[in-house]
Order: sequence, then C-alpha cells, then structure tokens
Amino acid sequence: MTALLLVVVLAVVSGHGDFFTNHWAVRITGGHRQADRIAAKYGYMNFGQIGSLEDHYHFHHSRVVRRAAFSLKGPHSFIHMDPEVEWAQQQVVKLRVKRYAQSDPSFTYFNDPKWSNMWYIHCNDKNSRCHSEMNILAAWQRGYTGKNVVVTILDDGIERNHPDLAQNYDHLASYDVNGNDHDPTPRYDSRNENIHGTRCAGEVAAVANNSHCTVGIAYNAHIGGIRMLDGDVTDLVEAKSLGIRPDYIDIYSASWGPKDDGKTVDGPGLLTKQALEQGIKKGRKGLGSIFVWASGNGGLQGDHCSCDGYTSSIYTISISSTTENGNKPWYLEVCSSIIATTYSSGEFNERNIVSTHKFHTRVLVSVASQLR
Ligand SMILES: *[C@@H]1O[C@H](CO)[C@@H](O)[C@H](O)[C@H]1NC(C)=O
Repeated sequence: MTALLLVVVLAVVSGHGDFFTNHWAVRITGGHRQADRIAAKYGYMNFGQIGSLEDHYHFHHSRVVRRAAFSLKGPHSFIHMDPEVEWAQQQVVKLRVKRYAQSDPSFTYFNDPKWSNMWYIHCNDKNSRCHSEMNILAAWQRGYTGKNVVVTILDDGIERNHPDLAQNYDHLASYDVNGNDHDPTPRYDSRNENIHGTRCAGEVAAVANNSHCTVGIAYNAHIGGIRMLDGDVTDLVEAKSLGIRPDYIDIYSASWGPKDDGKTVDGPGLLTKQALEQGIKKGRKGLGSIFVWASGNGGLQGDHCSCDGYTSSIYTISISSTTENGNKPWYLEVCSSIIATTYSSGEFNERNIVSTHKFHTRVLVSVASQLR
C-alpha cells in the first residue's frame, strides 16, 4: 500500500500522471437498447451516443473514483472483457492550453517616457481600456521587432539625427529626390510644415528603451526617408522615389496622395504605374517590394479612396484608421481596397497614438506649456 501511495505521489508531483475519469467511451453494435442493457449489467449509466459517432456511447460510473491516478480494477472493469463490447476506453484527462497571446510582464517595460502613454499596446494591463492591443507585444515576443527589415518613408524628409531615430537610421534607405542628394533632412522654415515624414518614421521605428520619447512598432527596423514632397511632385519624382534601391528596401511607406477634397479622381501616372509594377515583380530580389499606403483623410469632404489610384492600386497595401473607441474617425475614407486598420486619432475626448515630433520644436512646446 505504501509503495502504491508513493507511485501516486510521484505521478502527481512529476506532472506526468494521467488522471482517469469515471467516464467511458464504449463501442457496441445493436442499437441504443443493447447499449443500455450492457451499461446496466456493469453498473454504468448510458449518457447516449457520442456526438455523431454511430455505435459509440458515453458511459458513466458513479462509484469509480474521479481523477484517479491509475485505472482502478473492480467489477465495473469487466465491461472490457464482455464479448458484446467491441471496444471500451476509460477517459483520461488531457492537458489543453488556451492559445491566446500571453504577455510576459517582465518584457513589457521600456524606459521611454512615452511608453506608458502608448495605450494601444497596454490593453491587457489592469486599469487600461482599449479595444485591441493588435497583438503587438505577442509579435515582439516572437521576435518580430523589425529586425533585418528595411523601411523607408516617402514624404517631406526625415530627421536623421533625431535622438529617437538616429540609432535605426539607414542612409542606404534614404534619398533626397527634391534636393538630388543623399540627405533627406527636412527643410524647416517659420511655417514648420515639413514634420510629417519624421512623425511617420517614429511610428514605425523609434528606438526602444533609449530613455527618449517613444517606441516604434518595429523598433529594431532600419529606417530611412525619401524626401520627395517638398517640391514639385511629378510623375517622374514619384516613380524615382518608389524605385530607390528596390533590392535593399523592403517596405516603402507613403501617407499622401491626390487631394482628398471629394472632387479629385487621380492616380499614378505612366512612370509611377511602371515603378509600382516593377517593384512588386522584381524588388526584394524577386520577392516583390511592399508598398504601404494611407487610405486618405477626406471623409468630411465625402471623398472616397476608390477615387485614389494609389491606395486602390493592386500593388499597394492600403491602411485605414480607427479611433480609440473603435469607431470610424471623422476623416476616414472607406473603400474596398483597405487591407488593415490601425489606431490613429479620433474625437476630442479620445486618445491619439504617440510619435516622434520635430526635435527642436519640442523644447519650445514644453517651455510654452510651462509658461501657461
Ligand atoms: C529597458 O532598460 C531597463 C534599464 O533602463 C531594463 O531594466 C529593462 O529590462 C529594459 N527593457 C527591455 C525590454 O529590454
């Protein structure tokens, strides 16, 4: 008896022990009545057919120990020897684990000051509210952090020395089409309108855990910028920009397009069409370049992204946006080419996403807020 007890204890402690239940699966031909008769003969209850499996019955024995560590012998076990029973199996408890993304709390701490403001990553935290954390932490934990991926932002330039971008900045993924040189640094004047590219770059690839500002969704990605919106945009300028180092750059991200005024129907010109097609056929050494496009902000003007030939192109991946509460933002354009949606800004009482801002104005902004 002591030896038996020891076996039981060991089985439980090691966690490998099977637990036998007081439920049996039994195969008996001859119909339900026959099954009932055999069940009664050995003291079982017949709970009926197992799902849609003909001749298979679910038997239950109330005088057998539940969750026993081993199959107990007794008069009930004679059912296994009955010639009218084709097959019988005492059911064993199986370990089954729910497949949801589990976040490792030790991983989720980054020292960037805006980290805790990134509510769309912390949905599963206590006291946090948001609809979906988009599986960001789970993806990071599986190693999808942008490592070895090269992204470039086609826009008004990017601050390559920005403290939250410099470490991930890649000059080979950058070009200044407007200035015809290799430096995509934005041109700043009193109007400060060229901050868009830097913001887009921060959302993608702001450096993580550097005690500065924010964390990019692909914080280990190489990030570059193609400065092409700060000047006359022609078919040639667009085509050139979409074809820069196609074997080196994996993802071209564009958050611009024709005027979203609800009156314009426009799309890529002759050269740009060819650049997109060549990219998806030959780029990334034959895997195809990835062109990501913002769907448009003309919702208020009744604009429709189907009337935008860039976002509706079969060669681009169009991305739409949602508010914190999961609603369509006021500027949203709806159309069938949208592949995915992510958080952006919403109503005045909803939170926005966080990104890198033009660096030297940040100082002014914080001084101004202290003066208030
Ligand atoms: C970030 O840096 C801190 C030290 O400043 C460290 O304790 C923490 O583990 C780091 N987080 C990650 C995810 O590497």
